Amino acid sequence: MSLKSLTYTSLARLDLDADDLENIHRSARDSNVIEGITGLLIFNGTHFLQIVEGAPHAIDDLVERLRRDPRHSAIEIREEREIEERCFPDWSMELVRVSGSYLEAKETISDRLPEAIAQPVRERLIRMTEAISGTVSL
Ligand SMILES: Cc1cc2nc3c(=O)[nH]c(=O)nc-3n(C[C@H](O)[C@H](O)[C@H](O)COP(=O)(O)O)c2cc1C
Repeated sequence: MSLKSLTYTSLARLDLDADDLENIHRSARDSNVIEGITGLLIFNGTHFLQIVEGAPHAIDDLVERLRRDPRHSAIEIREEREIEERCFPDWSMELVRVSGSYLEAKETISDRLPEAIAQPVRERLIRMTEAISGTVSL
């Protein structure tokens, strides 16, 4: 079966609170189980960085819904590619809350990424997490 991975960043609605985040996470997980989508959602208080992986049509449908969702804006697709296998097979959507400070954010995400993840993917994710939380450009 063909699989696609898509990574985007977005800007959270300014008044998004902990309950909103919890709602996003819970409903994302529930619906991703049904849709066969797995991935990782990183939130640093102002920005989201999300990787979603699954059947191409499921990912395309999700991106349409994400674009209509007023809880975030300025969605920018950072990477979209066909993959052989999933990087996050056990995560229907893992939420990782990181600091707005890039050094702390880097440490948190490094600790939380699965051991089995390929080195280039790990490095890219750490770099992008640093970027949403600080000084490095994407
Ligand atoms: C940052 C963020 C991440 C989200 N991640 C997912 C996700 O992984 N899966 C999902 O089904 N919905 C996710 N959502 C919710 C969708 O944008 C959308 O609200 C939901 O799929 C229901 O869409 P509908 O009301 O158009 O049916 C996310 C929303 C936000 C703001």
